[in-house]
Amino acid sequence: MEEAGSFKDFYQYATPTRVIVGRDLLESTGFEFLKEGAHRVLLVTDQVIRGTGLVEKVEAGLVDGGVDLAGIFDEVPQDSSTAVCDRCAEAAREAGADSFLALGGGSVMDTAKVADAVFTHGGTAREQEGFFLMPRDDDGMGRPLDIAPLACIPTTAGTGSEVSMAAVIKEPEERIKLEIADFPLFPRLAILDPETTRTLPPALAAATGMDAMTHAIEGYVSQDWSPHQDARSLQALRMIRDNLERAVQGGERDEEARGNMLIAANLAITLALGSVHAMSHPAGAHFGVPHGVANAIHLPHVIRFNARGGDSIAERYRDLGELFALETGGAATDAADALAAHIGGLVEQLGLPTRLSQAGVLESGIPALVEGAMGDGTTILNPREAGEEDYAELYRSAL
Ligand SMILES: [Fe+2]
Repeated sequence: MEEAGSFKDFYQYATPTRVIVGRDLLESTGFEFLKEGAHRVLLVTDQVIRGTGLVEKVEAGLVDGGVDLAGIFDEVPQDSSTAVCDRCAEAAREAGADSFLALGGGSVMDTAKVADAVFTHGGTAREQEGFFLMPRDDDGMGRPLDIAPLACIPTTAGTGSEVSMAAVIKEPEERIKLEIADFPLFPRLAILDPETTRTLPPALAAATGMDAMTHAIEGYVSQDWSPHQDARSLQALRMIRDNLERAVQGGERDEEARGNMLIAANLAITLALGSVHAMSHPAGAHFGVPHGVANAIHLPHVIRFNARGGDSIAERYRDLGELFALETGGAATDAADALAAHIGGLVEQLGLPTRLSQAGVLESGIPALVEGAMGDGTTILNPREAGEEDYAELYRSAL
């Protein structure tokens, strides 16, 4: 891989989502979303959020700004599927909506993205799979066609989906996670207000925070690293270092830590990931391991594996170890190991499982997991080439 500091042959960077950050922003939801072209909104959420009072606050904010609430779709499960996306698109049509507002975690936001694409262009959620395959002007050669206005209000500090052009959705029959990415899926607006994570349970704050940590670390060492993303990854990691434990332990009281974690997750997100995500997607598809939990378990193992793929990779982990004030003086692989150990300790400290077996994964499932990881789009972005034997070993060591 090209060394840090070299001039890359190619990369692209885009972040067109307008992000607004602050306190008491939910009451401005309508005022802000109106500026993005919304008039009749389908609010997409889940049953858990329904019970928190957030829906009422957002609804009041919409109406206050002169935006109609066309309907509420609250059937998004923890791990959404193509069928849910299709139902959500249908709900928008039936309600006469012209825009989507996602209020929830990654599953809710990704559902709204895919439902919006289906709503706008027709077809089914299953047919949306792929990278940069959405309809374009000029027989597919021109500008990608817009989808209906989409705003996201994340209620976890983790996925960063509110500013990404990707969605990951389960296809239950094939037991895979579909990956869909293209420019029109960038939401037009993201609202970060610490009120949305005030009642987030500590275990969920920990797991989603580790997802953000994984994005920052994988993004920094990915084959697809870039100076633009490096800047984001490093600042995200500083903010996670300073706020994650506080946000998990301080919960409702620590608004500052929760707000900073929302920003950190927003900064950390990138499509340039690697083998941690490649391993976590099938763990979710086959065993229902929550995404952040799977990442937290896999991350230290992948760091140790990658660091043995060459000095330029291990040196990048050394940079990150310095940020955590770890002992990073000796060999680069030792520095990477210190980072892996630090993260493993943090995961334990946060009260998350550290082994796949604690999260319901069976040894007999490893061949299917390996197959899933090999077929995952993030495998080719990992800084060290990972083959079937490597993944089998990584899963066994994480079991
Ligand atoms: Fe992730």
